[in-house]
Amino acid sequence: MKVLIIGGGGREHAIAWKTARSPKVQKLYCAPGNAGIAEFAECVDIGVMDFEKQVAFAKEHEIDLTIVGPDDPLVAGAVDAFETAGLKVFGPRKNAACLEGSKSFSKDLMKKYNIPTAAYETFDSSEEALKYLETAKMPIVLKADGLALGKGVLICNTLEEARDGVKTLMLDKQFGSSGDRIVIEEFMTGREVSVLSFVDGNTVKIMTSAQDHKRAKDGDQGLNTGGMGTFSPSPFYTEEVDFFCQEHIYKPTVQAMKEEGREFKGILFFGLMLTEQGPKVLEYNARFGDPETQVVLPRMKNDIVEVFEACINGTLDEINLQFEDNAAVCVVLASDGYPEHYEKGFPISGLAAFKEKEGYYAFHAGSKFNDRGEIVTNGGRVLGITALGTDLKDARANAYEAVKWVSFENKYMRNDIGKAIDEL
Ligand code: AMP
Ligand code: GLY
Repeated sequence: MKVLIIGGGGREHAIAWKTARSPKVQKLYCAPGNAGIAEFAECVDIGVMDFEKQVAFAKEHEIDLTIVGPDDPLVAGAVDAFETAGLKVFGPRKNAACLEGSKSFSKDLMKKYNIPTAAYETFDSSEEALKYLETAKMPIVLKADGLALGKGVLICNTLEEARDGVKTLMLDKQFGSSGDRIVIEEFMTGREVSVLSFVDGNTVKIMTSAQDHKRAKDGDQGLNTGGMGTFSPSPFYTEEVDFFCQEHIYKPTVQAMKEEGREFKGILFFGLMLTEQGPKVLEYNARFGDPETQVVLPRMKNDIVEVFEACINGTLDEINLQFEDNAAVCVVLASDGYPEHYEKGFPISGLAAFKEKEGYYAFHAGSKFNDRGEIVTNGGRVLGITALGTDLKDARANAYEAVKWVSFENKYMRNDIGKAIDEL
């Protein structure tokens, strides 16, 4: 098969790496890809939102399967564009990707189908939102309705902060039209878990669990980021939690989408909060998580292309999804200053070490080749250094060993990825 992957981040590097291991794959392309993906796939200079060029490329090169990685193209209808052209593609259509693309849509769906989530109200007017806040309980959570690079969620501790938040989202329009409508919801406390699943419209099969670290600094301080590191599995995702989520969250969500005439096929990512009243949905994403994918896929035993095809064909129930009985930790190496201001273009050294060692991966997130053919930093998050281990402690020790192999100017990382496991 000839396979095309759309995207160029750490998540897509992990998807591409796993796809390349399938015996079914003869040639792999990635648009636009990155310097790490270029090692084993042909990178094509087409942007993730340029559906017309992507479809033309897929036709011209007789691509058998396209996999769309990021949220923006999915929410904008990338899958519909490929299907309209008669091409095979993995991912949710636009009318299903809105599960991620609109917070108010997903909240209304959960309410209608009794799927546990935080209580909420939706507002299209800043005056109404401000009025509501006067009598609301603090802390409270404000969410831009649309996509905002994972940064459209504000946790407000005081009424003052909440008023400022409404201004930031609805009046200053920090996230553009994504803030025309906001969701204001109850603040929940508990342990967060990310559960990714494959869905074929009807059947949902979950992958092994993971936990992200969203804040920029140690001890969950600093600004929210796209994710500074992950570990898998989450020891807090017990069998009991799984049983509850299967019955009350996973299956009901997929059935609800079917009933709404918005059949969901692709990856459904459940962002869960394990509260004292039981697991609740924080958010849905309509795609693989970043950097969750970097710890989940290296542990997956199946041929991923077979699973992608089963989702497309509606035969996922025939797949026995299996994961290794080990653990993985991913530490993100970022450019100092991320998620705000940072410099890029610095040469990265030490990557060759990963080629010689089994169970160690340097997934590239923001890298490129400069004019001299050197690999240089090209983003806030630069690399996701991932290591396997017999258990979480072992995997964490291995990952923190491996981050030392790599150097570049302004290298920044969190030193406490996976620290929660020490509490066990
Ligand atoms: P989201 O993009 O909706 O996952 O939100 C980003 C992060 O904000 C989540 O991972 C949580 O850490 C936090 N968050 C979102 N909603 C809530 C909530 N209702 N209560 C507490 N924290 C939340
Ligand atoms: N790591 C969280 C996300 O991919 O949205």
